[in-house]
Amino acid sequence: MSTHNVWTHKGTFLLAAVGSAVGLGNLWRFPYLTGENGGGAFILVYALTIFAVGIPILIAETMLGRNSRRSPIMGMRFLTRTHNTSRAWESIGWLGAASAFLILSFYSVIAGWAIHYTWQMLTGSLVGADAETISAGFDALLASPALLTLYHTLFIIASGLIVGMGIHKGIESGLRIIMPALFIILLVVLAYGVTNGDFRAAASFLFTFNIADLSLEGWLAAMGQSFFTLSLGMGAIMAYGAYMSSEISLTRTALAIAVVDTAVAMVAGLAIFSLVFGAGLDAGQGPGLMFVTLPLAFAEMPFGALVGGVFFILVLGAAISSSISLIEPVAAFLVERFDLTRPQAVFAMVLASWALGLLTVASFNVYAEGTIFHTLFGRSAFEFIELLTNIFMPLGGLLIALFAGWALTHSEVMKEMRTNETWFAIWRLLVRFVAPAAVAFVFLRAIPQVEGYLIPAIGALVIVGAFAAGRTFLVDDSQG
Ligand code: TRP
Repeated sequence: MSTHNVWTHKGTFLLAAVGSAVGLGNLWRFPYLTGENGGGAFILVYALTIFAVGIPILIAETMLGRNSRRSPIMGMRFLTRTHNTSRAWESIGWLGAASAFLILSFYSVIAGWAIHYTWQMLTGSLVGADAETISAGFDALLASPALLTLYHTLFIIASGLIVGMGIHKGIESGLRIIMPALFIILLVVLAYGVTNGDFRAAASFLFTFNIADLSLEGWLAAMGQSFFTLSLGMGAIMAYGAYMSSEISLTRTALAIAVVDTAVAMVAGLAIFSLVFGAGLDAGQGPGLMFVTLPLAFAEMPFGALVGGVFFILVLGAAISSSISLIEPVAAFLVERFDLTRPQAVFAMVLASWALGLLTVASFNVYAEGTIFHTLFGRSAFEFIELLTNIFMPLGGLLIALFAGWALTHSEVMKEMRTNETWFAIWRLLVRFVAPAAVAFVFLRAIPQVEGYLIPAIGALVIVGAFAAGRTFLVDDSQG
């Protein structure tokens, strides 16, 4: 029982993958994490992971999807059979489904904030407001569980409706307009930031690399972010890859996705920090960063209410094109496995995620601090869910890299990558050794006690891991 859906146009995979990649991760999460983790050092780890680990895994994940032409869980089940490997690799699919469910639960709450600000902009209620008023307004929003729940519900319903209609309608045509428009308006905001804010301070904050600035958890956050922003390691890209026509080169596509995604994050970061430093705001203020700084710029800008309204609508568009990629893999699984109709499957997934999202809602007000959660985990439910996804996505990516690197044959990979032997060899080196080692490094780095043993520990881990992976697969390369 495979999924017979195929994208209508050759370019749609790229569009859908860019739509999935570019979202709140670029506009909201990247700037605030960078601010909290000391700027340049965070970006350095983030960028290195994108290029050395993210792109190879992006290729690997698309490959697994296109090779199996099934939803991630069923696809991995199929691949473990056809490649004579342990059923345990199916955990890639399950881990992915868990991540999708966790991410969607908070993603929808945050996207809900953008609904609030779209409204505030279009009604002109913030025109001329100063920094204090705007931050007080944001605090008031967070303090209201009812409002947050309302927006969360609206957003998740909208996402569910789009996925429920199927992959062709809605997604394809919408993205063609939303993505370029978003980028243009971001440049407008950046231009405003350059002329009215402190661009030099922003640039030096973002591009002064002092690795000592990065806390141990900052390493994990940076790697988690690079997976998050590329929608990697949880099956979203695998699910989209399953609908991708077999003729397109994965290498070029993956590169294009990473470049566009990084460009959007950088422009957003420069624009936001120019405004932050220009207005004397706090760079490390956390999740509210984008929602406090940008309305401030729009409050003062000529035609700010209109520009701001359009901006937040585009943010919503970018968020929806990402959230649908969180629903799709799980929904497709439910359809394939339990013969549910698409709407039923989407409903089940969305309802569960919605309910979990209420914990994130409560993290900002009723359970803001001092609850059992804080005592047990030392953080709010929202932060705990984020931490889980920061671990699950790289872990999923690691398994994807190992599976694609060791279990797929030479000819299978070549068919997907459509490239020459040199690129093939580089890619395979990256997914077999470099990506796993990098993920292991950051995981170990995030555990304070490991400090002194770091290098030997990773060495040992990679050697053991590579042997174990090699043996599990018993791949005979001469076949390929
Ligand atoms: N990449 C999206 C963003 O940056 C978020 C996202 C969508 C995502 N689908 C995903 C993250 C799958 C991880 C996995 O906003």
